[in-house]
Amino acid sequence: MSDKIYIFDTTLRDGEQSPGISLSVREKLEIAEQLAKLGVDAIEAGFPITSQGDFEAVKSVAKRVKGPKIVALARAVNADIDKAWEAIRAAEKPMIHTFIATSDIHIERKLRKTKDEVLKMAEAAIKRAKKYTPEVEFSPEDATRSNFDFLCKILEVVLESGATVINIPDTVGYALPDEFGKLIRELKLAVPGLNDVIVSVHCHNDLGLAVANSLAAVKNGANQVECTINGLGERAGNAALEEIVMILDTRYRTLGKRTNIKTEEITKTSRLVSTLTGYQIQFNKAIVGANAFAHSSGIHTDGVLKERITYEIISPQKVGLTESKIILGKTSGRHALRQHLESMGYSLSADELERTFKRFKELADKKAEITDDDLEAVMADEVRSGKAEIYSIDSLHVTSGTGEVPIATVRLIKNGEIVEKTANGDGPVDAACNAISEATGVSTELLFYNVSAITGGLDAQGDVTIQLDIGGKKLIGRGISTDIIEASAKAYLNAINKSLNK
Ligand code: KIV
Ligand code: ZN
Repeated sequence: MSDKIYIFDTTLRDGEQSPGISLSVREKLEIAEQLAKLGVDAIEAGFPITSQGDFEAVKSVAKRVKGPKIVALARAVNADIDKAWEAIRAAEKPMIHTFIATSDIHIERKLRKTKDEVLKMAEAAIKRAKKYTPEVEFSPEDATRSNFDFLCKILEVVLESGATVINIPDTVGYALPDEFGKLIRELKLAVPGLNDVIVSVHCHNDLGLAVANSLAAVKNGANQVECTINGLGERAGNAALEEIVMILDTRYRTLGKRTNIKTEEITKTSRLVSTLTGYQIQFNKAIVGANAFAHSSGIHTDGVLKERITYEIISPQKVGLTESKIILGKTSGRHALRQHLESMGYSLSADELERTFKRFKELADKKAEITDDDLEAVMADEVRSGKAEIYSIDSLHVTSGTGEVPIATVRLIKNGEIVEKTANGDGPVDAACNAISEATGVSTELLFYNVSAITGGLDAQGDVTIQLDIGGKKLIGRGISTDIIEASAKAYLNAINKSLNK
C-alpha cells in the first residue's frame, strides 16, 4: 500500500461557507495560486451553481492555476453538474464533486425522497459527470449518521457508474475517532471496489475532533484528507490542513504516511487566508497561531536556549516561520522593492508595482523600518482593494476632541465620480463609518470590530477587522493603515463593497 496521503483543500468552498466570508474572484485566485505553491493535490474552488460570482471565481481558478486538480461542487442534479463542468472545463485536471445525503434524517426531512430515489439520483449524477470528465468524486452527505447497509449500497452504485474518488464526510462533526476509523475499515471490507479508488474523508469540527477523526481514518485505510487552511468551514469548521500535514510529517516514523505539501509555505498560506477572509487566527492555534512557537515560562525558555528540542517538536523554519526582518526603508527604490517582493513570492505587473511602490513610500514616510510583515499586509490590502472594489476612498477628514462631537467627511470614488458626505458619530471611527454609509447608501449593523498591530512599536500599522450585517447577510471587511481611523474606514468600506459585489 502506498504511503501517500492526498491533500484535498476545500478552503475556497467549505471554508468560504464560514459566516461572513465572501471572497472576490481576485482573492480566490490569489489563495488558489498560493495553495498550488503549497503543493496541495486538489483545490475545491467553489460551488458554481450557488452564484454568478462563485461561478466566475471557479472559472478563473480553473483557467489560471496549474498543478493541482481543480474541483467544483455540485448537488446530484443535472443543472448543478452542467454548471460545475462549465466552470472547470478549462482546467488542466478538472474534477466534478457531486453529493447527496444518505442518512435517514436528511433523506426523510430534508430531501423528502425515498432511498430508492436517492440511489437513482446518485447513479444519474455520476453518469452525467463522467460524460464531461473522467475524474468524478462522490460524497454521501451525513455518512456518519447513515445506515451502514444503505451506505454500502450507494457506494457500490456510484463505483459501478464510474466514480473515481469516494469521500466519506462527517458532515455534522458527530463521530468519535475510533468509530470513524472503524467505519472506514468496515466500508473497505464490505465494498471491495473502494480498494481501487481514492478513499477520502471530510470531517467537521463540531466536537473539536475533525483532525483526530481524519487521522483515525488515515490509520484505517483512507488515502485522502479534505481540509482547510486555519480550519475554516461551516460552523466550527473543517479539519485544519496545517495540523493534518504536520502530524503526518512530525510523526512519520509512527504513522508511515507522507504528503506532497511544502511545509515551508504553511505560514504564508495561513496568513494570506486569514487576511483575505478576515478570520483572525487564535493565538494558541496549533502550528500557525502567534504563540505556537513562543516560549514564555523561565524553565522552557532556558531549555530552548540550551537546546531547542527540549521543548520544540517542530522547528519554526519547517513551517516557514522566519523572524520579521527589517528589509527596506525610506530610501529604497522600486528595484529593491520589486526584488524583495519577488523573494517573498510575489510577481507584480508594472501597474501593480507602481501602486505598491506608492503605498510603500507613504508607509515609509510614517514608519522608519518596513518589515516583511508590513509588506505582506500591504500586498494583501492591495489584493482586497483591487479592481473589483466598487467604491474606493479618495480622502477622509475627521475632527474630534474631548467634549466635541466627532465629525467625518469622506470622499469616495465610484466609476470615476466623486461622492462626498459628512456625518457625525459617537467617536471618530463611528463618524467615519456613518459618512461612508451616507455616501454609499448602504446601512449596516456592526457585529464585530477588532484592531490589532501588525508589528511592534508605536508606529505599527493597525489591522482592522469588522463584521457587518448588511440586509441580513454577515460580511467581513478588513483594512490596514498606520492611522486606525483610516484602517477602520477601509475595513468598513471593504465589507460594503462585498455586499454590492455579490
Ligand atoms: O460536510 C459535508 O458533508 C460536505 C459535503 C458537500 C462533502 O461539505
Ligand atoms: Zn463540509
